[in-house]
Amino acid sequence: SAEAGLNLTNIQGDILIGMKKNKELFFFFTIINSTLFRSQLGSGILPLITPTSQLLAVDTQPTTAVNLAFSQRGLTTLDITDDLGDTAFANGQIDNVASILGDETSNWESAFAGTSIHGVFLLASDTVDNVNATLSQIQALLNGSITEAYSLQGQARPADQQGHEHFGFMDGISNPAVTGFSTPLPGQQVIDPGLFLLGETGDTVTRPAWAKDGSFLAFRQLQQRVPEFNKFLVDNALSNPNLTADQNAELLGARMMGRWKSGAPVDLTPTVDDPVLAADPQRNNNFNYSHPGFDLDTDQTHCPFSAHLRKTNPRAGLNPENTANHIIRAGIPYGPEVTDAENASNVSSTDPSLERGLAFVAYQSDINAGFAFLQQLWANNAAYGVDPIIGTDGLGQADVPRSPSGLDPADPTRIITIDQDFVVSRGGEYFFSPSLSAIQNTLAI
Ligand code: HEM
Repeated sequence: SAEAGLNLTNIQGDILIGMKKNKELFFFFTIINSTLFRSQLGSGILPLITPTSQLLAVDTQPTTAVNLAFSQRGLTTLDITDDLGDTAFANGQIDNVASILGDETSNWESAFAGTSIHGVFLLASDTVDNVNATLSQIQALLNGSITEAYSLQGQARPADQQGHEHFGFMDGISNPAVTGFSTPLPGQQVIDPGLFLLGETGDTVTRPAWAKDGSFLAFRQLQQRVPEFNKFLVDNALSNPNLTADQNAELLGARMMGRWKSGAPVDLTPTVDDPVLAADPQRNNNFNYSHPGFDLDTDQTHCPFSAHLRKTNPRAGLNPENTANHIIRAGIPYGPEVTDAENASNVSSTDPSLERGLAFVAYQSDINAGFAFLQQLWANNAAYGVDPIIGTDGLGQADVPRSPSGLDPADPTRIITIDQDFVVSRGGEYFFSPSLSAIQNTLAI
């Protein structure tokens, strides 16, 4: 891959392959002494930053992987005045909260709604103790030049739920392959590096030279209302006569997501789960919604048009296949498992310590073509049905009824109304994850 031109020792490790640890802390900070901060960045912090190359080989993986990214406000605080060429980044996520993303602003965590977030350290390891030790090391090196604005502890779910998000579905299966970097698995789309890395082939925007090999990180704290989701599936279970009531509830969930909880794609196995298929990387992403003898534009017997997977990547549903709107996802669940009391009441606790969801991370070189596009123009779009997982009414109002299509395979025209949001945005921010050389030569003094 180095031969193909990507400088893997210079690109932060989370961008192309993810840090893939069971614990990941998102430590959002405010820079209170810019000169001191910059003076510690090169000699102190840079050696701790984990490049892609270090993650690729098992024997070079650090105990705690560290990545670092800045908001526009953070760069401005560091006296970096260059325009990175991305309006969404420059304006910050709060700027397009209601009209673009459809968030209800009152649900936003106050730190994301405020002005104190200048940057974020991403710290990933096997244990929280390791993460905290590295955080202490960073804070000592930075010598009081930053303060904590907010933090979110991500953690993989326990035991057989590891790798699954809180609704129970296996996550992290489908990311694009990157030209010149990854060898595509069957069904995996190959996308130019410039869609994710600034200044690489496929990035057509004019950027300052130092921004090359950086990436924009869209962070979202997405709360998941798991008991409510489960109740909805039971209350609206499908009616396949060959399935039990539980299986009919599972079937509805699978059709809303586009994969079974195991990860098996609904497009390949529409009415029964197939855990063997799910576990086979040669097959679990090898589909494109087209089937001989079925009309791609009307057939929803395989996968509903509105399924989360299909809304966020329509594959052959667009002809030619879309090459402009892709993200690399690197999120991790946060929060504890559902409690017995929540299960019994079918209602999420209002205790903040019991909040759970997805610490969502998406990398792209153009936020308005990446994360914001997928949320606004695909997931929230009523054409082909609003995404039943992450779609909103697009107006910044909560619990507005949504009408995804095709959820019932026995009658694809039947509308199953979703009268509540199972995913609630608690806000987020847009960041720039610079290359290691940019940290050394431009951000540090
Ligand atoms: C895929 C869950 C938020 C974009 C998936 C998958 C699951 C999932 C289970 C299938 C696993 C895989 O194919 O890797 C969730 C949950 C979310 C969430 C529970 C919120 C709590 C988002 C958001 C976006 C997004 C906000 C972008 C706006 C995607 C994309 C794929 C995906 C692009 C892969 C589609 C494909 O290539 O076929 N998601 N997701 N997700 N999700 Fe989400």
